[in-house]
Amino acid sequence: MAGRDAVTEWTGRKGKLGAILMASPVRGLEEALLGRSSARLMKHALSSLAEDAVVLDAGCGSGYLSLPIASKLREGTVICVDLSDEMLEKLGKRARSRGLLARIRSVKAPVDATGLEDAVADMVVSNNLLHELRDPHAAVMEWKRVLKPGGRIALSDYRSTRLTRLIMRHGHGAEANDPFDVEGLASLLEEAGFEDVLVVPCRNKLLAQAAKPDGR
Ligand SMILES: C[S@@+](CC[C@H](N)C(=O)[O-])C[C@H]1O[C@@H](n2cnc3c(N)ncnc32)[C@H](O)[C@@H]1O
Repeated sequence: MAGRDAVTEWTGRKGKLGAILMASPVRGLEEALLGRSSARLMKHALSSLAEDAVVLDAGCGSGYLSLPIASKLREGTVICVDLSDEMLEKLGKRARSRGLLARIRSVKAPVDATGLEDAVADMVVSNNLLHELRDPHAAVMEWKRVLKPGGRIALSDYRSTRLTRLIMRHGHGAEANDPFDVEGLASLLEEAGFEDVLVVPCRNKLLAQAAKPDGR
């Protein structure tokens, strides 16, 4: 499902519980067991962003990436896109308690039809989302549209391994997507017209970086 038909399973009780767990120290355990792609993503993003940057966090959940990034921006904004009311509510509470509300713009929308203006973002980040999407191509095309020319993308997700395929089936049911492998994610980004595509494995996870052509 894509665009206006998109759904998220993270609603109701599952959404509330997920929002809490995704904001909890359990995440350190997940990274230690599966791979530190999101920590690497964060390091890359924080080392390269200007203080007035606009960052889109696609499938932001309760703010795992959005809040640390927002805390580094003096004037910029993190546009937090998610379809789950429960996730966005928790994100809002966490942003308020950290004094970061002015740096956060919450948008309830599908990640492949955000309704945002063209060329609004310096960077698009996303963690643990790609495997949930029915149409990842539509999502990366949308992220390219909202990026400024020369803007960058940094994505972290599960890598297709025996362990992660098992976890997906357990967590998302028989209909679950298999996560990408390195080549599949690189092809997705190249076919969408990104350049300087680099996808690296981090044990059972992946980190992808790429840039939107700057048109010169
Ligand atoms: C596994 S959670 C990851 C959340 C966050 N990035 C993190 O690392 O904690 C995936 C998130 O993506 C959202 N999501 C899934 N499919 C979506 C879609 N098509 N459009 C918008 N959000 C979506 C879910 O609601 C959920 O909050």
